Amino acid sequence: MNNIGVESAFDVLVRARALEAKGRSIVHLEIGEPDFPTPAHVVEAAKKALDEGWTHYGPTQGLPELREAIAAHVSRTRGIDVGPQHVSVVPGGKPIIFFPMIALLEPGDEVIYPNPGFPIYESMIRFLGAKPVPIPLEEKRGFSFDLDRFRDSLSDRTKMVVLNSPQNPTGGVIPYEDLKVIADLLRDRDVMILSDEIYSQIYYDGAAPASITAFPGMLEKTIILDGFSKTYAMTGWRMGYGVMPTWLVEAVSKLMVNSNSCTASFTQRAGIAAINGPQDCVHQMVAEFRRRRDAICQGLNEVPGFRCAIPGGAFYAFPNVTGTGMDSKELADFLLNEAGVSCLNGGCFGEYGEGYVRFSYANSLANLNEAVARIKKAAVRWEPAMAR
Ligand SMILES: Cc1ncc(COP(=O)(O)O)c(C=O)c1O
Repeated sequence: MNNIGVESAFDVLVRARALEAKGRSIVHLEIGEPDFPTPAHVVEAAKKALDEGWTHYGPTQGLPELREAIAAHVSRTRGIDVGPQHVSVVPGGKPIIFFPMIALLEPGDEVIYPNPGFPIYESMIRFLGAKPVPIPLEEKRGFSFDLDRFRDSLSDRTKMVVLNSPQNPTGGVIPYEDLKVIADLLRDRDVMILSDEIYSQIYYDGAAPASITAFPGMLEKTIILDGFSKTYAMTGWRMGYGVMPTWLVEAVSKLMVNSNSCTASFTQRAGIAAINGPQDCVHQMVAEFRRRRDAICQGLNEVPGFRCAIPGGAFYAFPNVTGTGMDSKELADFLLNEAGVSCLNGGCFGEYGEGYVRFSYANSLANLNEAVARIKKAAVRWEPAMAR
C-alpha cells in the first residue's frame, strides 16, 4: 500500500469545501467533471429501466445490447472493425486502467506513460511493482510526447505504453503524424498499448483526434479506454468500457467477477440510450466548452507571469506559470487560500508538470471570468518579484 498513489483533485476539493464551510467564496476549477446535467433522455431511460426491473445481476462482461452499441460506436468513430466480443463494460473508465494493468504487468516490467499525466497510471504501475518510465510532454509541441525520448526509452523490458489523447491535464491532442511514428516504433514489439480515449468526443479544432488503433497492426495490441463520464456528463453513474483483444476481455472478466460481479444493470440500459440516442446534447456541451476555453485562455494569458497554450481537447487549461517566480504548489495554494480560486498544482500530474497549474473549465462563463479577475488581482503578490 506504500506504493499506491491518490488523485489530488479529490483532496483539493475537500480543502476548498472546508474553506467554504468557514464562509469563504471559492471558484471551483479543480475537479474534472462536466458541470452539465446528464441529458434528460438518458435519465429517463434509467428510470424506465428501474420500473421495468433491471435491478438484478447481469452478465459480467456487460449487457449484450450495450456491447453491440459500444462496438458499433467505436468502430465508426475510430475507423476500425470491432464487435461486442471485444468490449468489457465496467464501473467507470478507471477500471480499464486497473484491471488490464493487473492482468498484464509483472514486477520489473517497464511502462511508458505521459508526464504530466493522469496520476492513476503511475500509481498503478508502482502498485504492481512495475517500473514507471515517464515521457515528458512538450508545451512547444502542443503537449505531445518528446518523440526522441519516447524512442530512446523503449527497451526489451517495455511491456506497456500508455497514450492519452485528448489529454488530462494539458488538453493536448496527439497529432496523427506522432501517432504514426509511435505505431511504427511499436508494431514489431511485444507490447500492449493502453490508449486512454475518455475525452474522445471533446475536441475543438477540426477532425476527431486519431486513435492508434487505426494504424496497421495496432488493434490487436491495444486496449481502448472510453466511457460515459465525460461525453454524457455521467461521472457519478460509474460506467465505462474497454475495447481490447478477446484474450484480454477474458482476463478482465475474471477480475470483474472477483470484484464487482457486473456493472449496474439499469445504468447500462441508460448507456444504450446515451450511445444510440440523439447526440446534440454532446455537440451543445462541446460548443459551450469551446466558448469557455477561449475565454479562460485569453484571460489567463493576460495574467502577468502566465503563458497558456490553447488546448485542442478535454476541458483543462494548463498554463505555464514559471514567470510568476513561484513553484506550482506554492502558487496553487496561494490561489486557493488568498484568491479563492481552486486549481491543481501541475506537480500532481508528475515531475514534468512542475511549472504549470491546471484549471478545469467545466464551470460557467461567469465563474471563469470571476476566477480570472481574482487571479489578476492576486498577481500583485508576484508582480514585484517579476520586475526585479
Ligand atoms: C485521462 C482520464 N482517464 C480516465 C479517467 C477516469 O474516468 P471515470 O471517472 O469514468 O473513471 C479520467 C477522469 O478524470 C481521466 O481524466
